[in-house]
Amino acid sequence: MNFDFKYFNPDETDVVVVPVFEDEKLDRFAAEFDAELGGIIQKRMDKKSFEGKAGEHATLSVDSEVYGVKDIILYGFGNKNELDVDKIRKLAINLDRTIKATGEKNIHLIGRDLEAGHDVRYPIAELFDAISANSYKFNKYKSSESNDNEGGVTLQADVDSGPGHVAHFEKLQAVTQSQNWARDLGNEPPNHLTPANYAKRITSELQQFDNVKVKTLDVADMEALGMGGALAVNQGSTKNPGCMVVIEYNGTGSDETPPLGLVGKGVTFDTGGYNLKPGGSMADMKTDMCGSASVVGAMRSIAARGAHAKVVAVVGLVENMVDGNAFRPSDVITMMNGKTVEIGNTDAEGRLVLADALTYIQQEYNPSTVLDFATLTGAMVMALADTYTGVFSNDDDLWGKIDKAGHESGEPGWRMPLGEAFTKAVQGSVADLSNTGKMKGAGASTAAAFLEAFVDEGRPWAHFDIAGTSSNGGAATGVGVRWLDEFVKDNIEGALPLHRNCWTPPGNDI
Ligand code: BES
Ligand code: ZN
Ligand code: ZN
Repeated sequence: MNFDFKYFNPDETDVVVVPVFEDEKLDRFAAEFDAELGGIIQKRMDKKSFEGKAGEHATLSVDSEVYGVKDIILYGFGNKNELDVDKIRKLAINLDRTIKATGEKNIHLIGRDLEAGHDVRYPIAELFDAISANSYKFNKYKSSESNDNEGGVTLQADVDSGPGHVAHFEKLQAVTQSQNWARDLGNEPPNHLTPANYAKRITSELQQFDNVKVKTLDVADMEALGMGGALAVNQGSTKNPGCMVVIEYNGTGSDETPPLGLVGKGVTFDTGGYNLKPGGSMADMKTDMCGSASVVGAMRSIAARGAHAKVVAVVGLVENMVDGNAFRPSDVITMMNGKTVEIGNTDAEGRLVLADALTYIQQEYNPSTVLDFATLTGAMVMALADTYTGVFSNDDDLWGKIDKAGHESGEPGWRMPLGEAFTKAVQGSVADLSNTGKMKGAGASTAAAFLEAFVDEGRPWAHFDIAGTSSNGGAATGVGVRWLDEFVKDNIEGALPLHRNCWTPPGNDI
């Protein structure tokens, strides 16, 4: 759908949407419009056959020869005093459906009536943005349909505060378009989104924004750095070599500030390796790169908004394939930080990629806080399905901030446990660590405990296991983009509390 802020012109309009509040008279512009139609809307309301309850809608057909428009949709916005951003965003989903059901292309909403009399500053911008997030479709590979997510429909509204509405809509769209981009990446088939193609897409998309630098570490670079974990997973990918993409964004104008660090799992396809996944559960594994999509989507959003923040991201992009070169269960590998790991299961590959990415970001950038996103475990899906993202953190204060941002962005998290029992369970028999561990069950916590072994002592860190929330019916959700954007807005832009509590190595207290 296309969106526009414009005055009503009957000659260019097929359908007019009239907002109606519960227990209120028709507002000024709707009343004027109704007078031109001979009062048909008011008659309907007088008969109490339309009350303006939230989401209630009715279509009135008029003679297009006489009135210039074909249909009028009365749309209920509920109680005027209770209207908030959350309600508008929920109402948008239904309104979107109602508009599409008309099959018409040019829709005008009487916007000035929706602007007045409540606390929401830019209600039409919120409404438009929510519709655009809701209209997302991935039709790229369907020869009969376009993937512009617009379908040739234009929704326009007249507003009094035009410049404010336009500016606010642009800000909201920076986030929504970034979430939709993350969904696009998650929905791409793995033969198209190979690690190399993915790296190119990240680079070309992000380099359009100011203050962004992108670099790609290829296999030779990874070898030089000793990234034994990511390279072990990559070993079976003889056709599509892996890489790490590093993105720096600095919107602060200062080089001194330590950055927020983001890390993402980008397994573009997870066969399980020699611990091959059963057929049914393998098909969904094209979305095993959604953690990296959350992270690069958030970087896009932060950069597109021009956020006053310094953020660095590292995403590990690899395939987990079966091949004569592939790694085996019981192999022992050496990670970038020097720790050795015995492979209990080649399907527990994500933690190996993430661990090296975590080491790299800490060594290179000394971030104030590190947040990692990954479709890490089936156990997480069993525990929370798609209702909450499981969040593991070594820092109560950080968890509080994540929880708050999760609620505000509509992407809630549930704190899951770390602890000694899980840490012990991932100790190796012949190596320092095992990538599966000895514990029966608690797979999401043992995976998190494995990652914790790669986080510097005292550094605030959180791990988001999005295995359950990253897709819905096989389609990527783009979870994490809004959440991270909100986290940056709340904690870094303006207040900078994370930066003030900058991490210092143990023993170097100031
Ligand atoms: N990518 C999977 C986790 C996953 C499962 C994501 C289902 C989304 C939906 C991960 O690499 C994996 O296979 N983990 C194993 C680990 C086990 C072998 C210790 C798992 O959870 O079964
Ligand atoms: Zn796996
Ligand atoms: Zn995986």
